[in-house]
Amino acid sequence: MKNFALIGAAGFIAPRHLKAIKDTGNTLIAALDQFDQVGVLDSYFPNVDFFTEFERFDRHIDKLKRQEVKIDYVSICTPNYLHDSHIRFALRHQADSICEKPLVLNPWNINALAEIENETGRKVNNILQLRLHPAIQQLKKRIENDKTGKVYDVDLTYITSRGNWYYTSWKGDVSKSGGIATNIGVHFYDMLQWVFGKLRSNKVHVHTHDRAAGFLEFDKARVRWFLSINYDTIPDEIKAQGKRTFRSLKMEGEEIEFSDGFTDLHTRSYEAILQGQGFGLDDVRTAIQIVHDIRIAEPLGLIGDYHPFATKKLAVHPLKSNVG
Ligand SMILES: NC(=O)c1ccc[n+]([C@@H]2O[C@H](COP(=O)([O-])OP(=O)(O)OC[C@H]3O[C@@H](n4cnc5c(N)ncnc54)[C@H](O)[C@@H]3O)[C@@H](O)[C@H]2O)c1
Repeated sequence: MKNFALIGAAGFIAPRHLKAIKDTGNTLIAALDQFDQVGVLDSYFPNVDFFTEFERFDRHIDKLKRQEVKIDYVSICTPNYLHDSHIRFALRHQADSICEKPLVLNPWNINALAEIENETGRKVNNILQLRLHPAIQQLKKRIENDKTGKVYDVDLTYITSRGNWYYTSWKGDVSKSGGIATNIGVHFYDMLQWVFGKLRSNKVHVHTHDRAAGFLEFDKARVRWFLSINYDTIPDEIKAQGKRTFRSLKMEGEEIEFSDGFTDLHTRSYEAILQGQGFGLDDVRTAIQIVHDIRIAEPLGLIGDYHPFATKKLAVHPLKSNVG
C-alpha cells in the first residue's frame, strides 16, 4: 500500500483523485487546502490529517519522515499556475507527483522541473486521461496502421458551457489558468499530437475570453478546431436535447464517437502511474508548447482554413458588461 498526500482537497477535481487513491488500494495520510470545506474526505479517508496552512502541512510531512513514514506520492489538484511549485514540494520530500493538467503554463517551466527530477531522482506524472480513453486509443492504432501516407482532414469542436462564476474565479484569470485554450483545450491538443504525430504548424483565427478557434497541422492531420465555454455557441439541435456540452471529432466527415467512457479515467491513470507508466515531462512538452503559442498568438481573423463555428457572433465579457 502506498502513502499519498493531496494538495487542493476542497476543489472540483479532488474527489476523482480521492476515488482513484482508494480504488487502487492505497491510502491518503495528509491533505492541504486553504479552503476548509472538505467534508468529502470522510467519504474516502476519514482518518486523513487535514491542513489549511502550507507550513503546518510541510511540518507534518517532515515529522512523518522522521517517524519513518514515507509519502510515496503527492497528488496535485490546485490552480494551474501553482502546479510547478507544488510539484517541487513533492519531489523535495522525496515523493513522486501526480499533477492535474495542464502540468504547467509555459514550456520553460518543464525544463526547470526536469532539473529537480534529476536532483531528487523522483518522477513528475501528469494526468492526461484522454490518452486512456478507449475510443481515442483505437483511433491512434487506426492512424498508426495506415501506411498510405494520408493526411486526414479533421474538425474538432468542444463546447462546454460555464456560467459567469468562471470569470470571477482563478479560471478566468489568464495569469492563473492560462486562458481557455490552456485550461480546457490542453486535453485536446495533447490528444491530437498523440494520435496524428509531429506538429507542423499552429494558427489562431479567433481568441476571446470565451472561445478560441484555429488550425493545427500535424504529420497525419490538418485540424480545424473550435473551443468555447459560451452556451450560445452550442448548435440549436444540441440545446434542444437539454445539453450544455457539445463534443465532436470529425475525421474526413466521419464522426469519431467519444462522448462516453470518461468515468474512471483518473483511476486508470493512477493504475498506470503505480506501474511506472505515467505520462512524464517529455510526454507533455508538445501540448504545453501548443497552448503557450496559442496564448501569445495574434489572431488572424477569418482568413484561411478556419473552423465553421469561428464565424459565430462574438460575446461581451460578462464582467465588462454594464451588470454590477
Ligand atoms: N483532468 C480533468 O478533466 C480536469 C477537470 C477539471 C479540472 N482539472 C484541473 O484540476 C486542477 C484543479 O481544478 P478544479 O476545477 O478542481 O479547481 P477548483 O478551484 O475547484 O479547486 C482548486 C482547489 O485548490 C485550492 N487551492 C488554491 N490554492 C491553493 C494553495 N496554495 N494551497 C492549497 N490549496 C490551494 C482551492 O482552495 C481549491 O479548493 C486544475 O489544474 C484544473 O485544470 C482537471
